[in-house]
Amino acid sequence: MITKSSEETIEIALKLAADLKGGEILALHGDLGGGKTTFTKGLAEGLKVNDTVTSPTFVLLKVYSGKIDDKKIELVHVDAYRVESIDDIKSVGIEDYLDRQDIILVVEWAEKIKEILPKNVINIYFERIEKQGSAKAGSLDENERKIKIDFAN
Ligand SMILES: Nc1ncnc2c1ncn2[C@@H]1O[C@H](COP(=O)(O)OP(=O)(O)OP(=O)(O)O)[C@@H](O)[C@H]1O
Ligand SMILES: [Mg+2]
Repeated sequence: MITKSSEETIEIALKLAADLKGGEILALHGDLGGGKTTFTKGLAEGLKVNDTVTSPTFVLLKVYSGKIDDKKIELVHVDAYRVESIDDIKSVGIEDYLDRQDIILVVEWAEKIKEILPKNVINIYFERIEKQGSAKAGSLDENERKIKIDFAN
């Protein structure tokens, strides 16, 4: 899909959130500024999280209370950008949130911790794309993003 604003990216996240049952792990990949945190804010909105979601860049992991229908769930938001070793992410307790049906786990820069994640994640790729019709090759569009959701696993 192509989105032309952060609001459109949030719309996609809202639609995905409506299909989640609990227990899913979403592995987000792609460019800096690609929209991974923006998408996570949309998921949080869709999961009825009341707190403001901010990027867990330095703390690595944040937990928010939310709901799917009337069932209480937790949205666990991980940003693995600064993870240098698997021990970094183990030390914030990520293992407590794997394989739980009352959790939605969202991981930015998931490829950095792939050895600890199960195989059956939903992979989502965010890409900045070139300006259409731009004379300058390589100039990226400010507001367009390409988002690919891969449910294959
Ligand atoms: N179509 C779009 N979708 C999402 N974000 C967009 C879009 N157009 C512009 N933006 C802007 O791009 C930025 C995306 O930042 P965001 O923090 O969501 O990216 P990120 O993938 O989490 O980056 P990082 O890798 O640094 O964590 C925001 O400032 C947002 O307003
Ligand atoms: Mg981010």
